[in-house]
Amino acid sequence: MAIPRNLITLLLAALVATPVWGGDAQRGEQISKTRCAACHTFQEGGANRVGPNLWSVVANGPGQRRGFNYSPDYRRAVATGFAWDDANLDLYLEDPTVFLREVTGHGNARSRMTFKLPRESDRSDVIEYLKTLQ
Ligand code: HEC
Repeated sequence: MAIPRNLITLLLAALVATPVWGGDAQRGEQISKTRCAACHTFQEGGANRVGPNLWSVVANGPGQRRGFNYSPDYRRAVATGFAWDDANLDLYLEDPTVFLREVTGHGNARSRMTFKLPRESDRSDVIEYLKTLQ
């Protein structure tokens, strides 16, 4: 029995539309250039700006960038020993202040990163890109 052609087209369209296998690092790089680069550099040895250089941030863990003055609430969060796994990065990029409040348990914690990435697919693409930086 032949598989109807429009069914194949439908399945292909679904595959293209839903990145079920995770984010797209190349798209993540583009998003980072337009959305994050005002405050962050990404290359090895890059300077700190308003935010810290993000080379190898996933492997090194949070709060490790030398010469960057993290906010007190961020340092409090780092002291809890959290790691930059996908779930934590996703929550942080969605709302850094909410993330710090959850991790520290302090309802008035504030992030110095005043930026949010509301689209889930943007976040998963950026997360894949961050993981390539090492
Ligand atoms: C308006 C400036 C600004 C923008 C835009 C911004 N950030 Fe940040 N980011 C910061 C600051 C400031 C910190 C330090 C947070 C603190 O000390 O509370 C930070 C911290 C971080 C950290 C933790 C770094 C570490 O060493 O632990 C990550 C990861 C991060 N940002 C990712 C991103 C990504 C990805 C984007 C773009 C989608 C982005 N940021 C956009 C200012 C910004």
